[in-house]
Amino acid sequence: MAVVIVQGASRGLGLQFCKVLASRADVAKVIATSRRAENEAALHSMQSQFPNKMVLINVDVTKENNIKQVVPKIMEESTGKIDLLLNCSAILHPSGKGETSLRDVSFEGLRTTFETNTIGPVLTAKYFSPLLLKSSGLFGKQAGKKHSGILVNLTAKVSSISG
Ligand SMILES: NC(=O)c1ccc[n+]([C@@H]2O[C@H](COP(=O)([O-])OP(=O)(O)OC[C@H]3O[C@@H](n4cnc5c(N)ncnc54)[C@H](OP(=O)(O)O)[C@@H]3O)[C@@H](O)[C@H]2O)c1
Repeated sequence: MAVVIVQGASRGLGLQFCKVLASRADVAKVIATSRRAENEAALHSMQSQFPNKMVLINVDVTKENNIKQVVPKIMEESTGKIDLLLNCSAILHPSGKGETSLRDVSFEGLRTTFETNTIGPVLTAKYFSPLLLKSSGLFGKQAGKKHSGILVNLTAKVSSISG
């Protein structure tokens, strides 16, 4: 049975992925994270819809120590392996509105956005890859090859510089 982590699970695509994954018979556990996952009403309601399947853990992907600290708890909950990690954690801008003009950019806004959308996924890969490598590849197929766990980082065309 598969164990999955959905990062950025409190709303948007992450919340929908939690619902789809928790309803699958081949998924034993969905570990849902976000900065305030343990207090999110939408995740608590999903937890009651799928008893014993959903685990809620607060993780801020901009805080390396925080990612590192939750690994033992995730290891315990996942019995030492992760089959799929969906990273949906992202921001457009700390204010919630993306900048559309150079007048609106600021060092602080760019820094926080870069920390969340670029550094966060790399640190996530660093700390969770040992658990992904323990998976026997319950998700996906690779022609002619065996694979371990899968790490998916979501992005958007709006972040592409090639249009
Ligand atoms: N929605 C779409 O139609 C769409 C289409 C194409 C691509 N995408 C891409 O898919 C990804 C998710 O989009 P979305 O629309 O689902 O976004 P969203 O609704 O804004 O959700 C973002 C999630 O990231 C979490 N998050 C933000 N900062 C965080 C941090 N520092 N640490 C941990 N979690 C953090 C948020 O939770 P908290 O704020 O509670 O921490 C929230 O759960 C983005 O990369 C987006 O570009 C979305």
